[in-house]
Amino acid sequence: MKKTTYKASPDIALVKYWGKKDEVLRLPENGSVSIIVGGLETTTTVEFQRDLNKDEVTIQGKKVTKELERVCKHLDRIRNLAGTSSFAKVVSQNNFPLSTGLSSSGSGFAALTLAATKAAGLELTQKELSILARQGSGSACRCVCGGYVEWLDGERSNSSYARTIHPASYWNLRDLVVVVNEGQKSTPSTKGHKTAKTSLFYSERQDKIDEKINQVKQAISNKNFVQLGELMEAETLEFHSILLTSVPPIIAWHPGTVEVMLAVQAMREEGVQAYFSISTGFNVHVLTTSNHEKLTLSRLKSLDSVKRVIGCSVGGEPKELNKHLF
Ligand code: PMV
Repeated sequence: MKKTTYKASPDIALVKYWGKKDEVLRLPENGSVSIIVGGLETTTTVEFQRDLNKDEVTIQGKKVTKELERVCKHLDRIRNLAGTSSFAKVVSQNNFPLSTGLSSSGSGFAALTLAATKAAGLELTQKELSILARQGSGSACRCVCGGYVEWLDGERSNSSYARTIHPASYWNLRDLVVVVNEGQKSTPSTKGHKTAKTSLFYSERQDKIDEKINQVKQAISNKNFVQLGELMEAETLEFHSILLTSVPPIIAWHPGTVEVMLAVQAMREEGVQAYFSISTGFNVHVLTTSNHEKLTLSRLKSLDSVKRVIGCSVGGEPKELNKHLF
């Protein structure tokens, strides 16, 4: 079987997926819209080897133990489809910090799905790949696509998948990824999805979410940056209100996260077009336009708690590489 390597980027959700209606299949309670973050990358090489007696998975140079079962289960799905029983050697490398709210599981399971299916000799459509990736990590179903992406929530597995609504070249937005800490976040998303409904505000959110998805898609179609930014920032604050009021509560922010949020709002008072989005971690995405990028970047870099800022663009689809990691 063929050794295969893929590179995939994570995404940042403009309308977030939070809560599942099916745990095993990872069917979300609601649809979501995201942008692929070109500049952040996971590269993964997979080879099925007849002489292995178990899967061997290495991430960032370390043998995986904690998340091994989740990866093996995903490889099992692919082995079942391909009709093979061979175990796999998997080596994966990220150019950004893992488990800090930058969606490394999205790019990780997207790259794994693409590399492993190809290595197993399967030829799947993008829809089939999205459905498969979703079962490893929800957001991974969006990360097999490029550009501006929508995940249709779906009632069943074969109707819950993501597709590109506009290619990366459609609108040159800039995403400044602000790293305030490289340590691990306290609550993994998988755990948070389970307690989402304990928040008093959750059903209120769900009642209005389809309307919000339509507004966000409209703002993208009209290339209306201010409208998109306002919707995205309000969505982040609504999402974190759910986290804060879940039982047990999830406090994802660090002091540096709040410093960045306040700085972004202060910049806007001065006419800079920049808006923040935060997932379940503490690092922050600051979305801006190419005209406002330079000023936004220098202001963010001047903040005490900012360790580094990674300048990103809207990313394309994952790519197969000829250079392997082993
Ligand atoms: O795909 P997961 O289980 O890592 O969950 C992603 C959750 C959020 O990042 C908060 C929202 C989203 O849509 O990406």
